[in-house]
Amino acid sequence: MIKKQEAVKVLVSRIYPEIGIELLRKEGFKLTTWQEDRPMTQPELIKAARENNALLCTMTENIDKHFLNECKHLDIISQFAVGFDNIDISEATRLGIPVGFTPDVLSEATADVAFGLMIATSRKMFHLHKTISRGEWSYFRPTANLGIDLKDKTLGIFGLGRIGIEMAKRCKGAYNMKIIYCNRTPNKKAEELFDARLVNFNDLLKQSDVISVHCTLTDQTKGLFDRTAFDRMKPTAIFINTARGPVHNEQALTEALRNGSIWGAGLDVTNPEPMHPGNPLLSMENVSVLPHIGSATVETRNKMSRLAAENIIGFYKNMRVPNIVNPETLTNK
Ligand code: DGY
Repeated sequence: MIKKQEAVKVLVSRIYPEIGIELLRKEGFKLTTWQEDRPMTQPELIKAARENNALLCTMTENIDKHFLNECKHLDIISQFAVGFDNIDISEATRLGIPVGFTPDVLSEATADVAFGLMIATSRKMFHLHKTISRGEWSYFRPTANLGIDLKDKTLGIFGLGRIGIEMAKRCKGAYNMKIIYCNRTPNKKAEELFDARLVNFNDLLKQSDVISVHCTLTDQTKGLFDRTAFDRMKPTAIFINTARGPVHNEQALTEALRNGSIWGAGLDVTNPEPMHPGNPLLSMENVSVLPHIGSATVETRNKMSRLAAENIIGFYKNMRVPNIVNPETLTNK
């Protein structure tokens, strides 16, 4: 460890899978763990972080400019997530605070949820499950409860990175779907493996039977799927979002589903989270909503916990953060 005189103190913001926590303990870090089920408020977080050298946090913590300036003493922030839109990265970088994150290990689990939502929505599974518990399953009716096929349809991926490629793999393999995508840069791997074709945003909207969102949340992607976007989609299209809720405008999505601009939606992320139980989307037939469970498998969360710990250990051992958002913070240290 770099700080040898006394043990490095790490604030652990939530109860994370033990595997990473144990790793930190074994390496001699002194841990303070927030024990409540709810996330800390920002004042609580600031107060606790002031007593520590490093922070292990996740997307429930608001690491904005205010927090960072109150806690500029932090040596490192290690985020338990691949997304880091809760952290003001440019301010952390300006203050020289490295930010670690947990990419790759959750790509397959998250793509499974996107794929599952696509199927569940196309066959109205969430809605039909509820009709049984309401006692509404009477008898087989040849023209009732009809969904739509996915075979040979076109999948449009918005943000084709690590998770998007896993979604493409599933859709190509299971349904021979044609893959088109919209990205800032071409994804050669996806083009070679799945014959994916880069298109502009407008063509993605117009040509896709299913649109699956896998981008990061930025000023450019916030609210991108708005009324105009939904109006340009096919009336038979399904919209899937497993990335971040604010990428779509929830009011516009609700209207698009109501007025038939699109056919269905599958959401693992909403805006706000948690979604209000009275939200009209929850009672629509062609809508499937999950409580942000993309990475929620035992194996994946264990891997995320290990990576988040390794980012802290690497920093104190040899100034290396294996998965870092802002590597420029390490060059001058
Ligand atoms: C992430 O990692 O960003 C997911 O949304 C939560 O696992």
